[in-house]
Parts: sequence; structure tokens; C-alpha cells
Amino acid sequence: MAFYWQLYEDVTWKVYVGLAAVVCLAVYSFRRWNTPAFYRGTATLNGKTVIVTGSNTGIGFESALNFARRGARVILACRNPSKGEEAAAKIRELTGNDQAVFRLLDNAKQESVRQFAEVILREESRLDILVHNAGVSRCHGDEKTESGYDLQFGINHLSPFLLTHLLLPLLEKSAPSRVLVVSSIAHKMVNTLCYLQSKQAWEETVAYATCKLSNILFAAELARQVEGRGVTAYSLHPGMVDTSILHPRSSRLHGELLLFFSRNILRPFCISLEAGAQTTLYCALEESITSYSGRYFANCKLAKPSKLAQDEKVASQLWDISCKATGIENY
Ligand SMILES: NC(=O)c1ccc[n+]([C@@H]2O[C@H](COP(=O)([O-])OP(=O)(O)OC[C@H]3O[C@@H](n4cnc5c(N)ncnc54)[C@H](OP(=O)(O)O)[C@@H]3O)[C@@H](O)[C@H]2O)c1
Repeated sequence: MAFYWQLYEDVTWKVYVGLAAVVCLAVYSFRRWNTPAFYRGTATLNGKTVIVTGSNTGIGFESALNFARRGARVILACRNPSKGEEAAAKIRELTGNDQAVFRLLDNAKQESVRQFAEVILREESRLDILVHNAGVSRCHGDEKTESGYDLQFGINHLSPFLLTHLLLPLLEKSAPSRVLVVSSIAHKMVNTLCYLQSKQAWEETVAYATCKLSNILFAAELARQVEGRGVTAYSLHPGMVDTSILHPRSSRLHGELLLFFSRNILRPFCISLEAGAQTTLYCALEESITSYSGRYFANCKLAKPSKLAQDEKVASQLWDISCKATGIENY
């Protein structure tokens, strides 16, 4: 009996030590993976102009605030005039920089994108950094863009595609200039091309991921298309931040389950808003990345996107689809 008791105690002890080691390793790995890097560059932006779309709140607001602190003229391109004006006023107050201004841009309407571009081309003499940050992950039901695509695809991809095209002359004039597309690690959820080809396949859970995949493909193809013209392009994952985009509303059951998941499971793993703006700042300001035009970044360093996101054929196919959907003949 004593022998068996001894054996039991030995095994239990080993199991406890083993479990403790696994837990320690898991905590250590998670902390390493989830510790956000902060961009320490001290570049100033006096005399430079930056546009940040969707900057009345969230990561966009935090990025615009930082650009204004560095002395830039910052254009907050937002869809809601009162929220946009309020955010610009807050940035002016916090930074003392009176060059933070609101301009109306609704990515859900191509007409609004064209009007916004007209205003910018008329009013601004330069554009150094264009940040496509605006995004939605909510279900828009059966709402479609003018060209019949899912509205989420229109807001998250087609409008940034069109806006870049319209502002390209100003970006080229201000060279060296940069275009940033805020994507997401969620792009890795898409592993088949069919979502780009079939309009019927826009299931709400993969629609957001497909848009974010499109962001990476767009930045990569844009870099190829404008190579040698003084404009570079980057896509990035900002990290997981507790903003409204993480809690999409939906009337469907699996949408409700996702909402429950994001509110109760994801929240503790989120990084701060300030941390969430760091990779945007890095891609906008870091001198050493100019030779990495077209690449994808996360946590203030080069990162590897999914295999599909690196496929040049898919990028070129998406480019053609986007040209057709926005009525662009030549970029
Ligand atoms: N939060 C995260 O964990 C996370 C992770 C990966 C990637 N991202 C990406 O980061 C970017 C910023 O998201 P966030 O987390 O800061 O979310 P957020 O707080 O919800 O901000 C999204 C911004 O986009 C604007 N927007 C939405 N629809 C628009 C439209 N039709 N036209 C113009 N602006 C529009 C919103 O304006 P309103 O306030 O008027 O709605 C808001 O200013 C998004 O591209 C998102 O995909 C976020």
C-alpha cells in the first residue's frame, strides 16, 4: 500500500510541476506576442500634410493626434460632420496645432469620395501621407455599392482604392510620399479566392476578413503600379484594440455569438488605443522602410501576411475588379 501511495505522490508531483511549466510558458509566450511595440522616432512633420480617414474616434483619432503633435497639417476625413468637427477641435486643443481640420468623406458613397478629393485638390498644395484607416465590420444586410458589391467591401476597399487614384497627382507632386492601408490580422481567415469572385459568397463573418485581405493586396499592387513615381505604399495590422469595430452588431444569431465573444473573451487581450496607433506611425514616419514598399507590417516591424495576401496574380485580379467597380481606366 505504501508503495502505491509513494508512486501516486511522485506522479502527482510531476504532473503539477509539468502543468506549472506549461502555464508559465504559455503566459510568457502570450506576453511576448501581445506586448505592443512603441514607435520611438522623433521625426517632426512641420510643413507636411497628412490625411487620416475615419479619424473622429479609435485608432484613427489617436494617429491624427500624434501627427498633429509632430506639427503636421492634419485633415480628419470623417463621415459625420459633428463628430469630425468635434475631434478636430479636440486635437487643436490638446496639441495647440491649429492645422487640424475636418473635411467630409463618406466611404460608403463614391460620389462623396470624388467630392472629398476635389476639395483636397482645390485647397491643398501638398499631401505627404494618406492613411486609409476608416473601416467597418458591421453587417450591412443587403446594402450594396453603386457597382453591386457588398457595402462593407465598398467602404473598406473600393473607396480607398478610388481615393488613392484621385489624390495620386498630389501625392506624386509631394514626393516622397506614402499611402498606408490599415488592414488586420483577420485577413488570415480568408483562404480561398472564391470570395473575391462571387458576389453571393459574402457571408458576414468572412466579408470583413476579405476586405482586410483586399487592403494588403491593394497596397502591394499599388506599390508595383507607382514604383519610381516617388510614392510608396504599406499595409498594416494595428493590433487588437477595444474599439467599436471589435463589437459589430448583427441581427443574425452567429453575429450575436461573435458579439458575445468579442465583448467577453477578446476584451482582456486588447492593447491600448495609443499602442494601436503605433504601427501606423511607424509606417508613416520610419525612414528605413522606404525599400519595403508594398509590404505588410505589424507591431512596428515587417510581418508575414497569409499566402493568399502575397499572391501577385490575385492582387492584379483584384486591381482589375476594383478599376471596373470604381470606373477607373488607368491608374
Ligand atoms: N480595433 C481593432 O482591434 C482592429 C484590429 C485590426 C484592424 N483594425 C482596423 O483599424 C481601423 C480603425 O478601426 P478602429 O478599431 O479604430 O475602429 P472604430 O473606432 O470603429 O473607427 C472606425 C472609423 O471609421 C469610420 N468610418 C466607418 N464607416 C465610414 C464611412 N463610410 N466613411 C468614412 N468613415 C467611416 C468611423 O466613423 P464613425 O465614428 O462615424 O462610425 C470611425 O471613425 C479599421 O480599418 C479596422 O479595420 C482594427
